[in-house]
Amino acid sequence: MKVDGRHIRSIWLEPDGWSIGAVDQRRLPHDFVVARLTSCDSAVDAIRSMLVRGAPLIGATAAYGMALAMRTDASDTALNHAYKTLIATRPTAINLQWALDAMRSVLRPLPPSERAAVAYSRAAEIAEQDIAINKGIGQHGLALIEAVAATKKPGERVNVLTHCNAGWLATVDWGTATAPIYLAHEHGHAVHVWVDETRPRNQGASLTAWELGHHGVPHTVIPDNTGGHLMQHELVDLVIVGTDRVTANGDVCNKIGTYLKALAARDNGVPFYVALPSPTIDFSVDDGISEIPIEQRSAEEVTDMTGRTADGRIETVRIVPEGSPVANYGFDVTPARLVTGLITERGVLKADRTALSTAFPERRAAAAE
Ligand code: MRU
Repeated sequence: MKVDGRHIRSIWLEPDGWSIGAVDQRRLPHDFVVARLTSCDSAVDAIRSMLVRGAPLIGATAAYGMALAMRTDASDTALNHAYKTLIATRPTAINLQWALDAMRSVLRPLPPSERAAVAYSRAAEIAEQDIAINKGIGQHGLALIEAVAATKKPGERVNVLTHCNAGWLATVDWGTATAPIYLAHEHGHAVHVWVDETRPRNQGASLTAWELGHHGVPHTVIPDNTGGHLMQHELVDLVIVGTDRVTANGDVCNKIGTYLKALAARDNGVPFYVALPSPTIDFSVDDGISEIPIEQRSAEEVTDMTGRTADGRIETVRIVPEGSPVANYGFDVTPARLVTGLITERGVLKADRTALSTAFPERRAAAAE
């Protein structure tokens, strides 16, 4: 999408033909800085340190990490080592495993001399596929927004609430939850986004607000606790969130706090949609609450806040008393029963086993192997 009129993706192959460029998301919204990844280890660090984050982008970065590994050493040992270190970077989003499995299955049968070139082209395919999938989600989600717009009086806007960052910064381009919003905006619909700040890491306040603002989409940042109040006052027409993993039964794992939004949406009759790219489906698990590993992140994300001071310095301050214990669960699971629909690249589906396996039979078959 656009940053100050210039089109940019979150990750790309540099003109040197081998190193990888990525937007350093740790520096947003205050500084727009590009990082260069030059080894598998730097891809590992980028994912671990959240220089890149968001389920689809983690997958694409891992794919390029494998290509960088094959460039220096394409032996079986190096291939296995790259897979093992990359998969250990973050536990919850399944796109990481999906991308690494896709890479390993094409590379393993090849002689080492052919692996680097194939790895780069497969990683590029994964990145392009992500963009195509998100555009598909955008088209199907646009129809939902248009249906709401048709019920509005002239001049009234469609209000979408979103949580975390499931925008272009979480993917290669377009975003998942934001793809319908960007398309609606392009089609001239009056669309406005309520952006949950998304404590503790503030992906909404720092990233979603930044990218919507730079693309020119009207939005308002709200504290995480505000959604229920807005829904009670009919100020939210629909909720669209992203996801890090969806089970075969349609349970949705996403950034912590998503479940509470789904409960509020149900209580207020607000449709709750999940933008779901197919690589995020995990047909090997059924029950999201008991089977999906939930990342626990550092206490500092809760105890400390970082921001820009009035004189332009970036400072970190502590907001929790010294000695108070902290819990920092990164994700939660919204049961399928609370989900109005899954917006996929193949249409809007019911959040259940039949709908998912009918729409994605090849993914289901692959999981059964
Ligand atoms: O911990 P993060 O920043 O990697 O969180 C992942 C996410 O961005 C969200 O959970 C998102 O909504 C799903 S990814 C499109």
